[in-house]
Parts: sequence; structure tokens; C-alpha cells
Amino acid sequence: MGDLRPVGILGTGSYTPERVLTNADLEKMVDTSDEWIVTRTGIRERRIASSEQAASDLSYEAARKALANAGISAEELDMIIVATVTPDMAFPSTACILQDKLGAKKAAALDVSAACTGFLYGITTATQFISNGLYRYILVIGVETLSKITNYEDRNTCVLFGDGAGAAVLGPVGDGFGFKAFDLGADGSGSTLLALPAGGSRIPATSESVAKGLHYLYMAGGEVFKFAVRVMNTATETVLEKAGVSKDEIDLLVPHQANLRIIDAAIKRFGLSEEKVAINVDRYGNMSSASIPVALDEAVQAGRLKEGDNVVLVGFGGGLTWGAALLKWSTQKA
Ligand code: UT7
Repeated sequence: MGDLRPVGILGTGSYTPERVLTNADLEKMVDTSDEWIVTRTGIRERRIASSEQAASDLSYEAARKALANAGISAEELDMIIVATVTPDMAFPSTACILQDKLGAKKAAALDVSAACTGFLYGITTATQFISNGLYRYILVIGVETLSKITNYEDRNTCVLFGDGAGAAVLGPVGDGFGFKAFDLGADGSGSTLLALPAGGSRIPATSESVAKGLHYLYMAGGEVFKFAVRVMNTATETVLEKAGVSKDEIDLLVPHQANLRIIDAAIKRFGLSEEKVAINVDRYGNMSSASIPVALDEAVQAGRLKEGDNVVLVGFGGGLTWGAALLKWSTQKA
């Protein structure tokens, strides 16, 4: 990164709602089976937000833990970036609502919309502001309440998704540590493959749009699957190459958690052993932008990371979008 200031993750936090929806529960709701869900996706259960919980509420819980773990107060934050496709409302941004809840008075606040790749778009954006010296501490959140846009009569989608929030505080770290490479990409020609069709300016909300079910998440699963396997490999390879790190030097891969079969393809491709991959899709399903930061926080809390480890974060999703980041782990503030 040239003469720019090194930027790393100083602390992480996560929150998932209490309510658990198991495969056995779903068997009573749609024509599915635990066996189908486990063999095709690896998912066993997921968390569901209560009717009172919106994205900013989940974000708040994750953010407080990340700030505490980073040893940073909310007042010290220069910026808040929230990645989500399930914001509290179309506007204002969920980041503004969170800014108020946290009392982060001097922080600028914005949401980013990059679906499951949102956390990677968020940390890549945050890093630019810190590395060039404009800002010091930025809170990046990946949060989803996908249960609110899921049709629980559609077995193609309702078994896949869950709710949760993950947070990271980014700031300056010592020389040689922090983010070494990023790779972001988009292919808007696939924009209809994974979408929430109504509620925007193309199809505003009407009683007809609601009756047609256009406010529910739609996914062409098979096509997205092929895309996911491909870009997970290419994005990972790109950051390894940019950072001059070989696949044998990966200490922890934190992939987006959409389907265990997609993660297994990457494990095979990069020849990784199980302890080098963070997996939580079995317990939370696909939490879109929250999947990577929640998995990262769980790995940190379990003591799986030590100073100097090579960590690769990689994701893909609606847009279509993809992204990867490689960092040399250190939570020591510079
Ligand atoms: O996070 C954003 C990115 N998202 C992803 O990466 C998701 C990528 N896609 C996937 O993970 C997989 O495509 C799915 C898990 C969504 C589907 O798995 P699949 O192996 O591609 O199954 P399929 O869609 O080809 O469906 C196979 C069969 C179909 O029946 P027929 O047409 O062969 O008779 C489906 O109707 O399985 C049926 N099916 C189900 N059966 C029982 C689909 N969903 C279910 C279900 N329970 N829940």
C-alpha cells in the first residue's frame, strides 16, 4: 500500500437474535426435510429477529462489543459504515440511526449496498479514509434481518437465510500489519438473479406489489451457485497474488457463508485444513453481509487468531458483487 498508513481491525463484535429456527421447525412450515437442507446446504438452524428488532438494534449490540474489544469509545469514531440490504427503512440510513443510538457524535454515517459482499465493500472503503490520514477510527457493520423479507411459504429460499450482525473497528496498526490487498468486483448483468424486486422506484409499494409477493427476496439459486464458486476462487487468488502470499501461508479463511458446498469447493481448491477455515453456516444459515464479520468475531473470541496471521476474507452475492481482503492480523493500535 505504498506510503499510506497501515490499517487493521482493532476489535470485533457480533450479535445474533435469541430465537432459533431449526430444520425440524421448517419441516412443519414447507415441504422440506432436515436431510435435504443439510446435504444441499449444510445449514441446521438459523436465528430470527423479534418483531421489535430492526437492523439498527442488532447493529447496536454488535457495535458495543466491537468498541469494547477495540478499547475505543463511540465518541472517538470518525465514521460509521453499515452494510445491509435490510435497513431499518429506505432512508435515513441505518448508519445514522446507529450513530444516534451509540452517541457517536462526531462520526459521519452512511450505508453501503453490496448485498452479501457489503462488509468487504465497507472495510475497503473505510481503509481508504484511514490510510490517507483523513480519519482514525471507523466502525464497519454487516447486519441483516433477512427474515423480514423472506417468504416462509417458499422452500427455495426460506431454509437458507438468517438474521445477525457483525462489527469491526478499523484503525491504524503497526508497520507490516493490517490490510495488504483488496479485490472488489461487480457484474450488474446478473442484477435480477438475487433481488428484492419491489419497494424501490422501479416497482413502488402498492397493494398489488404486495399481493404478488414482490417484497420478498428472490434468488435464482443454481445460477448464483455457479457464480459463487467461480468468484470465491478468483477473488481469493487475486488478493494472495497482490499481497505476495501463497495459499500455504493462509492462517484463516473467512468465507461468506451461503452454502457449505461452496465453502468446501474453496477448501479443496486451496488445500486448506479445517482449522484454517471459519464456518458457521450450520448454526446461522446465510446472514448475507453479517456472515463474514460474525464468523470473524467468533474466530477471534475462540482465540483462533494471533498477531501476524494471514487472514483472508472473501464474499459474493447480489449485484452481482464479489470481494476479498487479505490482512496480516494485529489489533495493536499505532
Ligand atoms: O448469499 C448470496 C449468494 N447465494 C448463494 O450463493 C446461494 C447459491 N445457491 C445455492 O446455495 C443452491 O443453489 C441452493 C441451496 C439454493 C439450492 O440447491 P441446489 O442443489 O442448487 O438445488 P436446486 O435448486 O437445483 O433444486 C433441486 C431440487 C428441486 O426439485 P426438482 O425440480 O429437481 O424436482 C427443488 O424444487 O430440490 C428442490 N428443493 C427443495 N427440496 C426440499 C429446493 N428447495 C428445497 C427444499 N427442500 N428446501
